[in-house]
Amino acid sequence: MDKNLTKNKKPLANKEDKKTPPVKDLTKNKGRRDFITLTTCAMAGIGAASGLWPLVKSMNPSAEVLATSTVEVNLSGIQEGRGVKVKWQGKPVFIRRRTKQEIEVARAVNVKNLRDPESDEQRVREGKDEWLIMIGICTHLGCVPVDHATRDGNGWFCPCHGSYYDTSGRVIGGPAPKNMVVPDYFFPSENVVVIGKKA
Ligand code: FES
Repeated sequence: MDKNLTKNKKPLANKEDKKTPPVKDLTKNKGRRDFITLTTCAMAGIGAASGLWPLVKSMNPSAEVLATSTVEVNLSGIQEGRGVKVKWQGKPVFIRRRTKQEIEVARAVNVKNLRDPESDEQRVREGKDEWLIMIGICTHLGCVPVDHATRDGNGWFCPCHGSYYDTSGRVIGGPAPKNMVVPDYFFPSENVVVIGKKA
């Protein structure tokens, strides 16, 4: 063997030892790493949950919405041939205690001739036909019609563009395409009506 080749040669292992940083025993910090990982995951979970909460909360109706979803009206003070206007969900609602004559006029109409065919019976509750309850908004462009301002002094007239509604709130003239809308309502007792859906 050529001695010159091996004479001044330092062992390779020693050279590499100088360059290579000492190897740490990673197993010593394993417990700490696990702890950090778990803590990070837990914090991320809490963050995600707290981010979701307003969304979940917003999907439930607020107390204010629940309170305004129905309106209770005492009917005992409303005389025959008179009406009141109440606000329900931001809209005007007409409640009218019709006279016998108003009911007769509404029922004498040939429904087939109406633009929006609906019988008077369909628009009131059986046994409570004196009470006409409807959203007081003209179905043309949304004005509030005026009570008892029609040509014959019955029904409703919308002054915005001249629509007429009969004593059942059905359109009988002018540009309005539909009858005034009858909302959900129910009578929890003889003299009380609740506008809105029954819970
Ligand atoms: S809004 Fe009533 S007639 Fe036009």
